[in-house]
Amino acid sequence: MNFHILTLFPEMIMQGLSTSITGRAMDKGTITVEATNIRDFSEDKHGHVDDYPYGGGAGMVMQAGPVYRAYEHVINEISVKKNNDTSLNRIRVIYMTPQGRVFNQRIAGELAKEDDLIFLCGHYEGIDERVLDMIVTDNISIGDYVLTGGELPAMVVIDAVSRLVPGVLNNDVSAEFETFHDNLLEYPQYTRPEEFMGVKVPEVLLSGHHKNIEAWRLEKSIERTKERRPDLWEYSKHNV
Ligand code: ADE
Repeated sequence: MNFHILTLFPEMIMQGLSTSITGRAMDKGTITVEATNIRDFSEDKHGHVDDYPYGGGAGMVMQAGPVYRAYEHVINEISVKKNNDTSLNRIRVIYMTPQGRVFNQRIAGELAKEDDLIFLCGHYEGIDERVLDMIVTDNISIGDYVLTGGELPAMVVIDAVSRLVPGVLNNDVSAEFETFHDNLLEYPQYTRPEEFMGVKVPEVLLSGHHKNIEAWRLEKSIERTKERRPDLWEYSKHNV
C-alpha cells in the first residue's frame, strides 16, 4: 500500500513514520510513504505558498496553485508507476481537517482496501476552497479539537491503516481480535511474573483451558466496554 502526503513539513511525516512498526513495514516494502513538499511547487521567487484571506480576517490561507501542482505531480508519479492507468482519477484524496468525518476503526478498514491514498495537510487558516473542491474526495478529522496542522492527523490515520495491511503486523490475527473488534474494548493482558507486588495473574489464564480463557476474556471485554465506553456498547452485537 502506498501513502502519498502533500505537506509543508515532509521531514515531520518521514521522521514520525520511520520508527517502530511503520518503519519496519517501509523497510520491507509492505508500505511506501512519500511526502511531497508543497513549497517545491510555489511559483513565487521567495517560495511563498500562502497569502491574506479575501474579505479580511486573521491569519493566512494556503494558495490553490502550489497545492494543485503538488497534487498533479503525485498523480503523474503514480500514473507512471501504473503504466498510465486511466483509473487514476479514482485515487482518494483525504484532506485532514477538524471539519471532516471523525476517524474510527471502521474508516481505517475501509481505507486499507485502497492501493494508493493521497493525504493533504493544511496549515495556517486553511486552504483556498477552490482547490479543495477540485481534488478532495474525503474530509477526515481525528477528533473535536484543533491542531496546528494536518501532519499529526495524517500520521495517525496512516498508522491505523498500515497495521491493517497484510504483513505489517507480525501476526495478522492480532489486528482482528483487539480493541474495537465487534465494538468491544480489549480484555486485560498479563505476562510474567505470575505475581507482581503481591498481585497474582487471574487463575483462569494459567489453567491452559482455552474455552474458559476465551469466556473469561469476553466477559472482561464486555465489562470494560460497558464501564468505559457505553457509547460503543450500545452498538455491540454482544449487547442483546
Ligand atoms: N487539522 C487540524 N486539526 C485537525 C483535526 N482535529 N483533525 C484533522 N485535521 C486537523
